[in-house]
Parts: sequence; structure tokens; C-alpha cells
Amino acid sequence: MRKHIVAGNWKMNKSLQEGVALATELKEMLAAQKPNCDVIIGTPFIHLATVSELLKDSVIAVSAENCADKESGAYTGEVSASMVKSTGAEYVILGHSERREYYHETPEILKEKVDLALANGLKVIFCIGESLEEREANKQEAVCKAELAGSVFHLTAEQWKNVVIAYEPIWAIGTGKTATAEQAEEIHAYIRSCVAEVYGAEVADETSILYGGSCKASNAPELFGKPNIDGGLIGGASLKADDFKGIIDAWN
Ligand code: 13P
Repeated sequence: MRKHIVAGNWKMNKSLQEGVALATELKEMLAAQKPNCDVIIGTPFIHLATVSELLKDSVIAVSAENCADKESGAYTGEVSASMVKSTGAEYVILGHSERREYYHETPEILKEKVDLALANGLKVIFCIGESLEEREANKQEAVCKAELAGSVFHLTAEQWKNVVIAYEPIWAIGTGKTATAEQAEEIHAYIRSCVAEVYGAEVADETSILYGGSCKASNAPELFGKPNIDGGLIGGASLKADDFKGIIDAWN
């Protein structure tokens, strides 16, 4: 059975102290009531070491939100995959639409990042998804397939075991506008069929595909109730322990 996952993406929010407080609150909540899914929190780089240490003996895994497309050296301000790994973090989120759009990350750059992340023992949460314009032109399937082909479909089946896909329609991110569970299920099923074309049905069946975009406690049960939706990648609602726990509880 593939993994069910609820992952938070804090984005550029929380001071170190605020992040530690949130991670502590979540750790206590999930120690008191064990989650029925894997739980990951994605934090800014500066939180990673402290939060990883804090969550060492907990059920919560830690993720970076990015890593460099170069191994090491004179790249001022960048953070490499091996540095992320050395903090104790297990995952890295790559391909987020905010990084593609605001920081001009191309499929080629993302491919480098994916390769370096995996080579350094990180698992990758790889994000794909179409814009509103693309959805209105009914291009969502072509966009998702091209994003996968451009950055992750060169991986071996062995490497693929360390990849989680997150489908995040750009028009639903931070807008309060969620894809309907039917819309999300339709494209998730399509994404799984693309994975099956490359890696076979068995591997596709083991691949976790998360939904992201205005996911909250109120709509998570319906989304997660669909056969091809294996959890969520959560932005805004991961910034408060109660809100995030409400989404985790959708798996109960
Ligand atoms: P929101 O949950 O705030 O819409 O963000 C989704 C997201 O981008 C997670 O990566």
C-alpha cells in the first residue's frame, strides 16, 4: 500500500523561535494522538537543524523547501543538498510553482536539483501543476506530463522510490479556491497513468501523489477520500498546529 502523507510547506514564514514553538506544539499533539498517515513539515533552511533535532524521536519528518542545483563551491547564498542532509532533514520540496515563477527555475535546473537531492540521500517532494490560463485551455494534462518528463522521468525505478509527487494547481494556491475533489481525482489518476507508462503499473501504484492548493480541515476528508489522492501538501493551513492537525485527522 502506498503511503498516505500530510506535508506542510511553511514557505517564507516563521522566525526560528516561532518555528520551534510550532514544531513543539505539533510534536506534543501527535505524541498524544498518533497520526494515521506520515507527517512531514517543510521549513525554511534556517529552521532545519533545530527542528530536525527537536523532532528526532517523533513521528514527524522534516523537509527543506529548496536546495541548490550545484554540488558545492562559489555560489554565494545557496544551500546544497548535502548541507540539507547534514541538518537531519529527510526530504526536500522541489519544483514548487513559486520557485518556477519567481526564481525562474526551469525543468533543466530542477532536474539537476532532483539528481543532487537523491544522490545525497534526500527524498524529493516534486511539485507540478497548471496555471489558470492553462486549465481554461484544458492543458492541465499536457502541462503535468511535460513537467514530469522534464525533471523526473529520467530517474531509475530504484530512485523513483524516493519521489513523492505533489499536484498543485497554481490557481488554487493561497487563493482559497480549491480544485473540486473530482477535478483533483481526475488529474491525479492521469498523473498515475503517466508514471505507469514510464515505470509500470506496480511502481505507479506505490507512488504517493499529494494534492496542494487551499487544502484545509474542511475539504481534506473529501479530497483524501478519492482513490488517487494520497494526502496533501499544505501551505497556509500548516502554519497553525490546530489547522494542520485537522488535516492530518482527515486520515482517521
Ligand atoms: P496553500 O495551502 O496556502 O494554498 O498553499 C499550497 C502550497 O503551495 C503548498 O506547497
